[in-house]
Amino acid sequence: MNKAEDYAIELRRIVKRFPGVIANNGIDLKIRRGEIHCLLGENGAGKTTLMRILYGLYQPDQGEILVNNQKINISSPRIALQHHIGMVHQHFKLVPTLSVEENIILGLDEGTGPFTNFRKVRKRISLIANQYGLSLDPRTKIWQLAGGKQQQVEILKALYREVEILIMDEPTSVLTPQEVEKLFTTLRFLVKNGLTIIFITHKLDEVMKVSDRVTVLRKGKVIATIPTQETDKETLARLMVGREVIFCLKKNPVKKKEKILEVKDLHVLNDRGLPAVCGLSFELYGGEILGIAGVSGNGQNELAEVLTGLRKLIKGEIYLDGQDITHCSTREINKLKVAHIPAERIRVGIVPTLSVSENLILNKYFYSPFSRGEFLNYKAIKENAQAMISEYQILTPHYQIPVRILSGGNIQKIILARELSCDPRMIIAMHPTYGLDIGATEQVRQTLLSQREKGAGILLISEDLEEIISLADRIMVMFGGKTMGILEGENIDLERIGLMMAGTKYRGEKM
Ligand SMILES: Nc1ncnc2c1ncn2[C@@H]1O[C@H](COP(=O)(O)OP(=O)(O)OP(=O)(O)O)[C@@H](O)[C@H]1O
Ligand SMILES: [Mg+2]
Repeated sequence: MNKAEDYAIELRRIVKRFPGVIANNGIDLKIRRGEIHCLLGENGAGKTTLMRILYGLYQPDQGEILVNNQKINISSPRIALQHHIGMVHQHFKLVPTLSVEENIILGLDEGTGPFTNFRKVRKRISLIANQYGLSLDPRTKIWQLAGGKQQQVEILKALYREVEILIMDEPTSVLTPQEVEKLFTTLRFLVKNGLTIIFITHKLDEVMKVSDRVTVLRKGKVIATIPTQETDKETLARLMVGREVIFCLKKNPVKKKEKILEVKDLHVLNDRGLPAVCGLSFELYGGEILGIAGVSGNGQNELAEVLTGLRKLIKGEIYLDGQDITHCSTREINKLKVAHIPAERIRVGIVPTLSVSENLILNKYFYSPFSRGEFLNYKAIKENAQAMISEYQILTPHYQIPVRILSGGNIQKIILARELSCDPRMIIAMHPTYGLDIGATEQVRQTLLSQREKGAGILLISEDLEEIISLADRIMVMFGGKTMGILEGENIDLERIGLMMAGTKYRGEKM
């Protein structure tokens, strides 16, 4: 058989309906054996749904699935695994308190009972790890590992189960640029060894870099499947959105105003009780965006948590508009119009079981008009939800459904709508465009810029250097809980930021 026609997976006319939406509306998709196939599409286009069907988490309402040219019924992930199909989810499903090896064998026959032969397991894990160029100590606990390493565990877990077709849902959104490179190397290794990979992403650079072919979905339908070499970013963006997309931001010169935030000699511990922020001082002004760059785990998370009252500091002072907020609670800080777009959406940003309308007022339900004495004003809550849904183009069948069933990007839009709708004084935004499609990314960036025009002070914490450079007026680089310096204007330079991220101090000298 011609290799080009050797399909590992064939999906035929797949239809999946949810109350109020058709998530997949007659999808045909053929995945060649040994290729990296990207799935591209706006938030809510149906990518995750389609892959959950292939992995047996959802049943299609109509359609057929062929694996290795045989029609099969994938009624559960267990059946999917029997056919060598595995999935790495966007939010990892590892147990943090267990070790790498315990997580890998979790749910397997050899992992039940008190008589697990760990020597055998360990041997097999290192064999597989070596084969694919992954390096992990099987005895390390998951909580000790950074995002990129945890993802390697997820991949190893799939390989341990002899997966031949690996589905990855937005695997790079939680990774640093270096970890992304490492992942791509691993993926190339995997396909060289005969695996087939389906890769969901919003990032066009990644599609161009890593895939052999790409399929674009829009509103539950396939718009096109194209060999990557025969296309470019502009074409893909147009196919995805259905119109021309202009990659540019209107950014007026900064009109620096009064000092909004002052942080003096801040010391904070992380969850493990180790120093995370070590003597950090800086200032933020109204009308500016201060970017905070750095490899994840260098104190950025802890800094954001302290500034929003979620974590206690051990030493230092914090002033907001001249007022001492060093020991204020989250609600007190919130009252001072501090908006927070957290990195961990699901854990910190929303309450998954509450409805869309309730999640849209989580930070203000105790004020008028939402609260009247002891009672909630449901009419006001509903009107607020309807206004936000239309302004932020949140794709949801109804304002009363639980947030957890929305697509990843739409959950992010809910947080943004809630946090940015109160004319904030200060915005602490961590990776604000993570998981968003091109249109929504543009919208968020534009919103941040317009808040800046209105005089808000914005702290933009991100590992996406492209994003920081295009938005920030000044860039502070954090390393080991300290600042490596602040770059401004023409001193902002990608290479210099890279050096600072690795721990080189910037003292204002020319390079
Ligand atoms: N369990 C569910 N119940 C009800 N509706 C759902 C469920 N899962 C998904 N949907 C809806 O189906 C549509 C497609 O969602 P899906 O998660 O597949 O999108 P996506 O392409 O992965 O988007 P994103 O890029 O934002 O992750 C959305 O409108 C979503 O709200
Ligand atoms: Mg998704």
